Amino acid sequence: KSIRVFSPATVANVVCGFDILGFAVNEPGDELYMELCDEPGVVITSIEGDEGKLPLDPDKNTVSACVKSVLRHLGKEDLGVKLKLTKKMPLGSGLGSSSASSVAGIFAINELLGRPLTKHELLPFAMEGEALACGHGHADNVAPALFGGFTLIKSYEPLEVIQLPVPDLYCALLYPHVDVPTRDARQIIRSKVALKDAVVQWGNIAGLVSALYQHDYDLLGRSMKDVIVEPVRSILIPEFDSMKQQALANGALGFGISGSGPTVFSLYRNKEDAKKVLNQLKAFLKEKGIESNIYLSKVN
Ligand code: HSE
Repeated sequence: KSIRVFSPATVANVVCGFDILGFAVNEPGDELYMELCDEPGVVITSIEGDEGKLPLDPDKNTVSACVKSVLRHLGKEDLGVKLKLTKKMPLGSGLGSSSASSVAGIFAINELLGRPLTKHELLPFAMEGEALACGHGHADNVAPALFGGFTLIKSYEPLEVIQLPVPDLYCALLYPHVDVPTRDARQIIRSKVALKDAVVQWGNIAGLVSALYQHDYDLLGRSMKDVIVEPVRSILIPEFDSMKQQALANGALGFGISGSGPTVFSLYRNKEDAKKVLNQLKAFLKEKGIESNIYLSKVN
């Protein structure tokens, strides 16, 4: 028995919703081939597209570790599982690369076993993968990768995920080739927030959620503002302010850091605007000596 699954990149935080909001895109994403076999144990037979960076050890790799957790939970540790992972997005880029792989693993094993668990029950296993990958088990990448569309982590304890309406929008993703590990990008954020900033922030989060329900794209754009995390993290991303200005002047509803960066994203009603801005920003960074990958995708 075997299965081949696609698991999407995700944009966590969506500017104002640090650790609670995220959405999936239709590309890029990872592909996973999973096969049940007679030999007990979870084995990774190959990983492609990771430039040799990911561990093949089943306890250290997030995909196999998550699959093993699911099997342990179901009392099926002795099952034989072979995995073949094809990474189709850069690692450590802020596109939820590790989440995409973890979700692919838990989704695939659950399908092969005849869906013993619901998506809500699967989610904590994918969060374990996040903890292994970057030291913190946030769910704002894994939830949209697993459920699709826009998701809200209403609370972590107890874990409660809400699926939000999915807007008809194009998403421009630009990954500048600079190193911003999630671990570091989390450490630089202040742990205390001023009440006046919190008021601004929860107004924006509520505005963004309302915008999705009302299909109000102007409100969505006006709500994609962050006075807490972006001012600190954007310092790690070259030309952030200038890229933001250029995107907003050329049709972007909103612009921000994807997850913990360095990828930046912007949302558009019009595909041509998204494409134009992406090419413009890529050329702009190149002039500054910074290479980048660009992806034109849809919120999905
Ligand atoms: N919410 C997490 C963060 C996402 O911003 O650190 C990491 O991709």
